[in-house]
Amino acid sequence: MKLDNENAFGMIGLGTMGSNLLQNIADNGYHCAGYDNSTDKVESLNNLKRDTIQGFSDLKAFARSLKSPRIVMMLVPAGNIVDDVIDELLQVLDLGDIIIDGGNSHFTDTERRNLSLKEKGYHFIGMGVSGGEEGARKGPSMMPGGDKKAYEIVVPILKKIAAHVNGDATVAYMGERSAGHFVKMVHNGIEYALMQLISETYEILKNGLKYSDVEIHDVFKKWNEGRLQSYLLDITRDIFAYKQEGKTDALVNDISDQAKAKGTGKWTSQAAMDLNCPIPTIDISVSMRDLSHYKELRVKASKMYPNNNLHYDAKGEDYVDVLEQAFYFSMVSAYAQGMHLLFKANEEFKYDLNLDLIAKIWRGGCIIRSAFLEDIFTAYQKEAKLEHLFLDDSIHNNLTKSIAGIRTIVSDAVLHGIAIPAFSTSLSYFDNFRCASMPTNLIQAQRDYFGAHTYELIGKQGVFHTIWEIENKVE
Ligand code: 6PG
Repeated sequence: MKLDNENAFGMIGLGTMGSNLLQNIADNGYHCAGYDNSTDKVESLNNLKRDTIQGFSDLKAFARSLKSPRIVMMLVPAGNIVDDVIDELLQVLDLGDIIIDGGNSHFTDTERRNLSLKEKGYHFIGMGVSGGEEGARKGPSMMPGGDKKAYEIVVPILKKIAAHVNGDATVAYMGERSAGHFVKMVHNGIEYALMQLISETYEILKNGLKYSDVEIHDVFKKWNEGRLQSYLLDITRDIFAYKQEGKTDALVNDISDQAKAKGTGKWTSQAAMDLNCPIPTIDISVSMRDLSHYKELRVKASKMYPNNNLHYDAKGEDYVDVLEQAFYFSMVSAYAQGMHLLFKANEEFKYDLNLDLIAKIWRGGCIIRSAFLEDIFTAYQKEAKLEHLFLDDSIHNNLTKSIAGIRTIVSDAVLHGIAIPAFSTSLSYFDNFRCASMPTNLIQAQRDYFGAHTYELIGKQGVFHTIWEIENKVE
């Protein structure tokens, strides 16, 4: 029988993430408590029969078991349920206790909760946690934001349970108020873009070049041993090696093509639009998951507009290396867009973000961890106020060498009707980004023509309006 006030950490929500994170905490020498309103989940936790983990079905007893100030983390689905749990918790906690929301909450909800809990006298931390089931168990990447004093109390535990890269824990204080959840949201936006790019690569290899599952596996394996090394390529390589019993085909070929989403990608696009910060590779990745749901329409259209031209021969052995360049280019573009959004959000929301620190804690534990994050980290270490990664010297150098590759891949795919929206968007974004003058002067003229919205002239002060229909009309 345990004494009250003995547990160092409490977890509300004993789903896969909550239960695995608790076990991770216990592995690191802490006594901890878990609560869930499902008795089955509490039972499963207690069935682990670990001396230092206690499962509770009674919230009061759970709270009593925690040391003061109590540290209680919630890992429950985002939305109203978080508010409900907080309301229940406030009945059993004391002023000065610490509540951590470790779910994928929308940053505006975290902003509101941060304010209201502060007013009531509780400490609140909105913390992004990435790494899935395995990360939770063996070491996630964590993005806490909000109450700095509470963070100082909690950080020794977080550092122990985090993943480690070159001896550094993949956790750091992100910034004020909702900073942690904003950073995690952008992490997920980048995750959507990378996943879309990998699936477009699969499309080129499978339907364009007619590669077998084994050949596709080999491509991802090879890439994952080079500069593209990443967690997502690592798991993709394995997916192409996974066969169902008695079948020759990889399981992936039997999976429905309608991709689900829990919303964080969409939120990233919405937030970016509100901040007037273009992140088109992420936007298109969200849209393509949406398009995947219009199965009936797509099936109908596939009969009306058949594509008999999909297949093309790879021009030479090194075509996969050209594809690697295209992937590298687009991957850089996806990260660069996400980091640019963080830069803009930091200005707008005054989070006090350190982009180098964000890159540093994304190098391990999280879903978008990759060798390239080391380059991003180096870029921000060199120049903390770097506004856009394309402008870093070393990234500029590598990106330049990959331009020919992305042009070849995009042109070939477009000629053969293979959909590669994330690749082509990444390229067009770049091509416009490096344009000293865009054709948007015409948009200004049109706006002025139909709506008298005025325009500015190059090298002249002030705003101008023209009566276009009358003046200088050319028939
Ligand atoms: C992570 C992931 C995780 C996310 C899932 C599913 O960092 O561990 O981002 O938080 O919830 O990947 O996201 P979707 O259902 O939206 O694809």
